[in-house]
Amino acid sequence: MLDKMKIWKNKPTSSDDNLEERKTRLKEQFIPNHVAIIMDGNGRWAKKRALPRVAGHHEGMKVVRKITKLANELGVKTLTLYAFSTENWKRPKMEVDFLMKLPEEFLGTFLPELVEENVRVEMMGYKESLPPHTLGAIGRAMEETKDNDGLVLNFALNYGSRAEILEAVKGVLNDCKSGILNEENLNEDVFSNYLMTKGLGDPDLLIRTSGEIRLSNFMLWQLAYTEFWFTDVLWPDFSEEHFVEAVEVFQNRQRRFGGV
Ligand code: FPP
Repeated sequence: MLDKMKIWKNKPTSSDDNLEERKTRLKEQFIPNHVAIIMDGNGRWAKKRALPRVAGHHEGMKVVRKITKLANELGVKTLTLYAFSTENWKRPKMEVDFLMKLPEEFLGTFLPELVEENVRVEMMGYKESLPPHTLGAIGRAMEETKDNDGLVLNFALNYGSRAEILEAVKGVLNDCKSGILNEENLNEDVFSNYLMTKGLGDPDLLIRTSGEIRLSNFMLWQLAYTEFWFTDVLWPDFSEEHFVEAVEVFQNRQRRFGGV
């Protein structure tokens, strides 16, 4: 649907209007199917309050709940959240351990709510080096929500895009060697099926918080035609109003996919 649409316009809404009004003014047919978020700024949020960095991550977890609920309500099909990158292991052990416990705490608290809201939990990333308790919590949530057909809440956990692309290339080479895939048939769609986002589609909208303007090894292949929206707001301060604002901006962009 979005691919076919070249231009759309609607009147920008005033950010002073109340949230409910702004939600109803969004164009239903142009809600982004897939939204990806780089949730950044937890450490700075905590530092500003003289709190330990992990307090920022904990606050950030609560925002995940709010935004998941809203995205589902608006009709977003997939919400991919960058929760831990392959580079984040370089952080102090105490912080890494804390981050590895967050999925358990999040799912331990909110899984019943996600089930009720018909959300399906997914994960993309390298499972091998994740602690069993983290994997266990996510695995149980995936199992419990596997038949839900509402929003897909996709956690990028121990995820790195260059490694993902390399793995995909190796997969392609292997399948060519063993005759499963003919080189002639390799195209962008086929290659996409070797990536961790297989079946999820590419993001229509990427949000990054905290004022950093970079991709940090996130979904490099998948973001080729995605609309980007950056904000200075730190992730723990990110609100429903900010998410709606990002969608409003998205709905006022002209997507040309390389055409005119
Ligand atoms: C980047 O901020 C954030 C992270 C590396 C972790 C993001 C994780 C969450 C928001 C919680 C995830 C919740 C669940 C349910 C898994 P930063 O620490 O780099 O911030 P800084 O740049 O200000 O230091």
